[in-house]
Amino acid sequence: MKVLVVGGAGYIGSHMVKMLNKAGHDVITLDNLSNGYKDAVKYGEFVEGDIADESLLDKLFSDNNFDGVMHFASYIQVGESVEKPSMYYRNNVSNTQVLLDAMVDHGVKSFIFSSTAATFGEPDYTPIDEAHSQKPINPYGHSKLMVEQILRDFDHAYGLKSVSLRYFNAAGADPDGELGERHIPETHLIPLVLQAASGRRDNITIFGADYDTPDGTCIRDYIHINDLCSAHLLGLEHLVAGGETKAYNMGNGLGYSIKELIDIAKEVTGKDFTVLMGERRDGDPARLVADSSLLQKELGWKPEFAGLDVILRHAWEWELKYSEWG
Ligand code: UFG
Repeated sequence: MKVLVVGGAGYIGSHMVKMLNKAGHDVITLDNLSNGYKDAVKYGEFVEGDIADESLLDKLFSDNNFDGVMHFASYIQVGESVEKPSMYYRNNVSNTQVLLDAMVDHGVKSFIFSSTAATFGEPDYTPIDEAHSQKPINPYGHSKLMVEQILRDFDHAYGLKSVSLRYFNAAGADPDGELGERHIPETHLIPLVLQAASGRRDNITIFGADYDTPDGTCIRDYIHINDLCSAHLLGLEHLVAGGETKAYNMGNGLGYSIKELIDIAKEVTGKDFTVLMGERRDGDPARLVADSSLLQKELGWKPEFAGLDVILRHAWEWELKYSEWG
């Protein structure tokens, strides 16, 4: 297949580009490098540009006969989305629509969309299945839910088929050690914990220990980046084979508290580090765990690296490498 990966220079996109290449597919990355790195695109062709650039998209789609498009070029920080909703709606919704319009104009019918657990808001129950109501509590979650709706309407009107994958907590790194997470500023728990272990940070602060969970800290479902990417590939194969538009929740179905994660990180790294207790961070649900049985049943997805120890080991190998030159 020939695949356009939008946002292929970012954390998830760069792993996806590698997986597509290793599976024998032809990949072009389009990325404006606002949050990505050109040197993270190790495979296929790289085009620097923005999904809002209609003439660039027109040229790309005219010059290439794409079988499908994967979209990783969104802003992802919940807190920032509350401060700067316009930026989130512009990029995550309006610019995505420019991309979808270009696909429709050029008859490209298969789209894989990075959605999020944040579309559910504060969960009524866990694990969260696809029947759970979607009531986002921040602009980031709203922006992703709006695109899910646009995708249903575009299927109905234009026959554009899509698979939306609602990520829980994407984590870990390329098992070969070639790629990993590089966010500046880093806000995610696992890389921050590992920076504390490697000495790049003095400590890690737990944001709230008074939640309604067994040890009082938030519970999350961490999914290995390669397992996440393999679901995208299955989604694209499903669509190219004539499959219907779908939305799936994607996690391991295993919830770990922040304290449990820190204990496992200490074991995996063999390092002790200072853990501080801080205030709650705004907008954090106590517990987010996915029910991914539909994805497993319908697309045959099977996580290969489900254990948090493996996820942390791969992320730790990347941290050791990256801390030398990052
Ligand atoms: N946390 C800390 N200390 C830190 C950083 C994070 O205690 O220094 C906590 C958070 O408060 C949260 C947990 O660790 O309870 C996980 O936080 P992350 O920032 O790593 O991940 P989130 O669960 O907040 O966010 C993820 C995705 C978002 C998505 C969200 C869905 O990264 O893009 O899940 O709710 F929107």
